[in-house]
Amino acid sequence: MKPQENLLPRKRIMIVDDNATNLMFAKTALFDRFDVFTVPSAAKMFNLLPSSSPDLILLDISMPEMDGYEALKILKSKEEWKNIPVIFLTGMDQAKEETDGLALGAIDYIYKPFEPRLLKKRIENYIQLAELKDTLAKNDVRLTDRNKNLDILLTLKNKSSRELCVSIFSVLSDMVENRNHKIQTKRGRTRDWVKILIDAMLERGVYKSTLESWNMEEVAMAAELHDLGKIEIPEALILKKSRLTPAELEVVKKHTIYGELMLERMGTQIANRDFVAHAQLFCLNHHERWDGSGYPRALKAHEIPLQGRIMAIVDVYDALTNVRPYKKAFPHYYAIKVLLEGSSGYFDPSIMEVFREIAWKFDIGEDK
Ligand SMILES: [Fe+2]
Repeated sequence: MKPQENLLPRKRIMIVDDNATNLMFAKTALFDRFDVFTVPSAAKMFNLLPSSSPDLILLDISMPEMDGYEALKILKSKEEWKNIPVIFLTGMDQAKEETDGLALGAIDYIYKPFEPRLLKKRIENYIQLAELKDTLAKNDVRLTDRNKNLDILLTLKNKSSRELCVSIFSVLSDMVENRNHKIQTKRGRTRDWVKILIDAMLERGVYKSTLESWNMEEVAMAAELHDLGKIEIPEALILKKSRLTPAELEVVKKHTIYGELMLERMGTQIANRDFVAHAQLFCLNHHERWDGSGYPRALKAHEIPLQGRIMAIVDVYDALTNVRPYKKAFPHYYAIKVLLEGSSGYFDPSIMEVFREIAWKFDIGEDK
């Protein structure tokens, strides 16, 4: 979804930082798209908030007198300010501090020095998401008010919720993609690979009765959200080039749970529960392993929902054939060799048998 820059009123961004150079740099990056207010301290921010009503706050962490954490705690404790999205704009890059900030209610971190285009795009995404949430809330209020005709009401709700579902999906996909902008990915291919694998399973009668009950378009779209929870993982960990420490790995593993919870919150507003349910199962279970060595719940064999067993294969193929911060991209033939020969016990053997026969179809070219 494209931001409607010329049709909508300009959003107001407040930047709080004790460093005048940082304030000027951030303002220069954003002023053509947003109304920007620069504030040199948390105390001044609280003075200005009653009259300025920002749509989003960029908040520095290290400031004299009151730091960003303290300021965020106060913001979240006040009814009139608690829903203003806050992004920490900071030079710190320690995962522990990021986790603390996210736990307090910050929606993200952006590191200084930042890339202006990325800063603008990230803020646009969060603003769009906030608008969609607001529309959803208003939509529900309107529907409740029209409680006289239940049939008409349900038709309206289903129609508008489907449209909103598509809009939210577009924004979320964009956010996930943007979050991992430094990683070269093959957009849209998860959807293709999941379809290829499921089609082949159906042809061969593998888990046929379950698969026949699925709406394939919904499933393929839901599969693309499997890493949604990475939005809540510190960027420093997502883009780290060296091996993650055990503590860092535990933080990254939580993206499975975060994704499922995000969809749960969203699901209460979306009529298309099947789509949300598929997406939740992809999120929570794509790192589970057939032999019980996966996460987050160390499920085994058929304890793992079918969505997770399918996505496990597709996700490993994707990881092997794409560049990651810590590795180069491997060619298709090598990825297949690793999957078929080096991962015994990790994957559902029935699905792997199918994959063995149709793996060549995964090599769908570089231009898509
Ligand atoms: Fe993942």
